[in-house]
Amino acid sequence: MENEKKQERYLSGIQPSGQLHIGNYFGAIKQHVENQHGDDSLYFIANYHALTTINDAETVRNYTFEATLTYLACGLDPKNSILFKQSDIPELNTMTWLLLCITPMYLLEKSVSYKDKIAKGLTPNAGLFTYPALMASDILAYDSNVVPVGKDQVQHVEITRDMADKFNKTFDSEVFVLPTYKLSTTPYVPGIDGAKMSKSYNNYIGIFDEGNELKKKVMSIVTSSEALEDPKDPDNCNVFALYKLFASEEKINEMAENYRKGGYGFGHAKKELLNVINEKFEPFREKRRELLANPDFINDVLNEGGKKAKSIAEQTLQRALIASGLD
Ligand code: ADP
Ligand code: TRP
Repeated sequence: MENEKKQERYLSGIQPSGQLHIGNYFGAIKQHVENQHGDDSLYFIANYHALTTINDAETVRNYTFEATLTYLACGLDPKNSILFKQSDIPELNTMTWLLLCITPMYLLEKSVSYKDKIAKGLTPNAGLFTYPALMASDILAYDSNVVPVGKDQVQHVEITRDMADKFNKTFDSEVFVLPTYKLSTTPYVPGIDGAKMSKSYNNYIGIFDEGNELKKKVMSIVTSSEALEDPKDPDNCNVFALYKLFASEEKINEMAENYRKGGYGFGHAKKELLNVINEKFEPFREKRRELLANPDFINDVLNEGGKKAKSIAEQTLQRALIASGLD
């Protein structure tokens, strides 16, 4: 029907910058998988972005493959979404340039993620500094209006809106759709040491970790030092915080009760956590093994997705080129 409200278009991406972990799953991937509406849901592997921090071809290639595998193993269905890699859309680079030329310096200078990365000791390159303009192109190129992200990415979506609005006003046009973000329901997953789980802190549990490796990580989760018989506060415990992500409400209440009444040790809780992680992720591991046996399928999915995404980006770029006088 002509007048029917247009379906919202979802777009999000993940950087292939290391092994993806439980924090990435609950903070990002899970809500991408939950928001699949055919060609109105686009998800991509941000390999241009990866170059801002990794300058090794083999590593970028492997991580890109691994991130694609992760999306598919965790339930992204290429028949019900568009999955692609960023570098298949070179239009993004032209669009980034158009955006940079209307972006006041202060918009880039205020980027929290840039400041965070420098604080972590990264030597910044110009790509890292201009990253928000590339991310804005990612979002604007497909006329997407909903961007599911974790808390740390919210500012980037706000910067995207500012850039889109500035471009439209500067060139007296309506080239870009102004997007909104949709915050993940799990903005904070703690790592083994209680700090935010992150690949850069080496405190993470990988989505596909299993067997002894997984067991060792779970058993090494930092807890307080109450004795087994003491009552414990579940809301102040990393093991419980992780357990809450995986277990049913009934099991969560049961574990909270056990903590409070005492006689229940952290070792018990860790064993239960290990069980629920295995229950949740074993089907994903199984799917990953299946996919690994057929790497051509992965490449076909990316090629197919890349073609669809590119044809949308070409049209948006064309509008932007005309508006700015380049075509
Ligand atoms: P890392 O900190 O491991 O480098 P990224 O910064 O690449 O992870 O994050 C990729 C996505 O995963 C982001 O959308 C981010 O919000 C989400 N994410 C990463 N770590 C966590 C966490 N510990 N808790 C919740 N979400 C997370
Ligand atoms: N910056 C995001 C991250 O580090 C990845 C990303 C790149 C992205 N472009 C995007 C996310 C566009 C959402 C929309 O995880």
